[in-house]
Amino acid sequence: MKRKRRILVTSALPYANGPIHLGHLAGAYLPADIYVRYQRLKGNDVLFICGTDEHGVPITITAEKKGVSPQEVVDYYHQNHKEVFQRFGISFDNFSRTSLRIHHRTAQEFFLRLYRKNLLVTKTEQQFYCEKCKRFLADRYVEGTCPYCHREGARGDQCEACGKWLEPRLLVEPKCVICGNTPVIRDTTHWYLPLGRFQEQIKKWIDTKTHWRDNVKNFCYGWFKEGLEDRAVTRDLDWGIPVPLKGSEGKVLYVWFEAPIGYISSTKEWAKRIGQPDRWKDYWLNPETQLVHFIGKDNIVFHAIVWPAVLMGRGDYVLPSDIPANEFLNIEGRKISTSRNYAIWLEDYLNKFPPDPLRYVLTSIAPETKDADFSWRDFQARYNFELADILGNFVHRTLTFVEKYFSGRVPVPGEWDELDREALQALQTFPQRIGDYLDRFEFRQAVRAMMDLARFANKYFNDQEPWATRKTDPVRCATTLYLCLELTRTLAVVMSPFLPFSARRVWQMLNLDGDVEKQEWDRCGELQLRPGHVLGRAQILFPKIPDEVIQREIDLLNRIAEGADTGETDEQKKLLEKTKERLMEYVSFDDFQKLDLRVAKILEAERVPGTDRLLRIQIDLGTEKRQIVAGIAKAYRPEELVGKSIVVVANLEPAVIRGVESNGMLLAASVNERISLLTLDREIEPGAKVK
Ligand code: MF3
Ligand code: ZN
Repeated sequence: MKRKRRILVTSALPYANGPIHLGHLAGAYLPADIYVRYQRLKGNDVLFICGTDEHGVPITITAEKKGVSPQEVVDYYHQNHKEVFQRFGISFDNFSRTSLRIHHRTAQEFFLRLYRKNLLVTKTEQQFYCEKCKRFLADRYVEGTCPYCHREGARGDQCEACGKWLEPRLLVEPKCVICGNTPVIRDTTHWYLPLGRFQEQIKKWIDTKTHWRDNVKNFCYGWFKEGLEDRAVTRDLDWGIPVPLKGSEGKVLYVWFEAPIGYISSTKEWAKRIGQPDRWKDYWLNPETQLVHFIGKDNIVFHAIVWPAVLMGRGDYVLPSDIPANEFLNIEGRKISTSRNYAIWLEDYLNKFPPDPLRYVLTSIAPETKDADFSWRDFQARYNFELADILGNFVHRTLTFVEKYFSGRVPVPGEWDELDREALQALQTFPQRIGDYLDRFEFRQAVRAMMDLARFANKYFNDQEPWATRKTDPVRCATTLYLCLELTRTLAVVMSPFLPFSARRVWQMLNLDGDVEKQEWDRCGELQLRPGHVLGRAQILFPKIPDEVIQREIDLLNRIAEGADTGETDEQKKLLEKTKERLMEYVSFDDFQKLDLRVAKILEAERVPGTDRLLRIQIDLGTEKRQIVAGIAKAYRPEELVGKSIVVVANLEPAVIRGVESNGMLLAASVNERISLLTLDREIEPGAKVK
């Protein structure tokens, strides 16, 4: 009997401040789930831990921008993440939240331990303070120009343009992101983790990780080269875990200090839930545990340097053994942007398509060593030509053949011929090969090997020509179909980490007992079907996706990229509705006067070809004629607009929208999808000023 390995797998705790998109999945969730499902089939003792990251500045900023409380934001997204992950088949053993008491306590205990071991140093430093908002501007509460690359829009904690970690007070031309005021400098005292003291130890430890991906190791060595510096582990904020020391009112633990501790709290929550409250120790306080953190590349420094330092400082806890960090996923050649909503949201996807095709495609293109690009055409091609034409087709032709010519029962095999022996060989070797890739976190190779088994199976079917031997050599035909059914069964097992929903369906079609997820990976290539066993009904696993369906998705992304669609999910809109009720800040009369609002008469209107939201409108402005483009095609037909007098912003900078020039902007009121154009109460000539 082989010894069971104990494996603790975590996926980065997603911030509970926005929906999950494909980039998240490809980075930290899908590969982790595939790995975990495989290890379960191997019979290893594996635990899969996650939860929402509910503190930190991104969350309070979202709350402030949307006019709701931080608690409302995190409650909402915790539930939302939990649901969509489940629908996508991400099989966490526990999905916790960092706002729970168990986590607050665990994080505070960690802090105190380090504090008592003199591993935290206090320092008084200067920080930005907004006098208008009456608070310190931690992390993203302040924006300005990066002192290194001189680009605008750098945030207090990091410049996204050059990737540098920033000391906020170094920002040039800082602004409070909430009110826009220029902050002042004030003294504040914080606790710092002296990372420099750990550099040698961490470097030596990483030196031993010869199997880690190059991107992760190189990244760390880059940091060592610059020299690790003290990092503050507290912040002046009112949302977060209070610093558990006297005289620290108004200070909380820095989110990147406490969030990884959430992996431990989530394990504790799991242990309680299963009625064995000490079980978490078997994982965390056990040097034999293989601790695997699945993350995206933006999280490397926190998981490979800061977190191990915290664990080393604390002592007794197991250190990460693998950190398979992924690079980024782009969409149709563009970077995902959550602020502009340029993304494919998982819940939108799941409202239109089943989970498995996306699991398959994201794994086939996984950004393991370099950034990858998701495109809908590629999605359709991989689905139609691989899932449908190869895997689905093999299963379907096998089952329908047996249904038709063997009355739906497993046939009795005869003697093996040369091709049969090849098939027996494939049954033995493929699970091993796929498993080896998975053990090495090479998911692209693994899923390709899985499809290669289906490819092999199709070829075997073709080469054996059972449609011919059925008449000439019935025993040969029976042998072929027997092996095709065994190939189908083995496929069901080896596909289940990647395509769990489809694997279950194949298992049902084979009418086999038990659960495909409870099979033994190492024995799934052995012959197991009993001749005479009655099979279930053949079904089509992957009905083809037609062009129009894909085109609709491409059009949607184009509209988002153009700004003609907000790209928000229905859920985001619901959360947003509250904000619309909040009015904006005062502007001066001078500011208002900068807008040149004019009456215009609509002369002509037509759709912009290839879009379903945009109209090209010719207007008369009194002194001149102009063309504008407006996103109102869903609310107005072109012909009903002609002759109407409307209001336009005449001095808005011209822009090219979907290749069409727009020289001005019409005014309209809207609530979600409902739109009402501003027209005039009585006749007045075009060009009249509106004020
Ligand atoms: N919330 C972070 C992000 O989405 C990840 C936190 S991972 C943890 O980037 F380890 F800190 F939990
Ligand atoms: Zn402010």
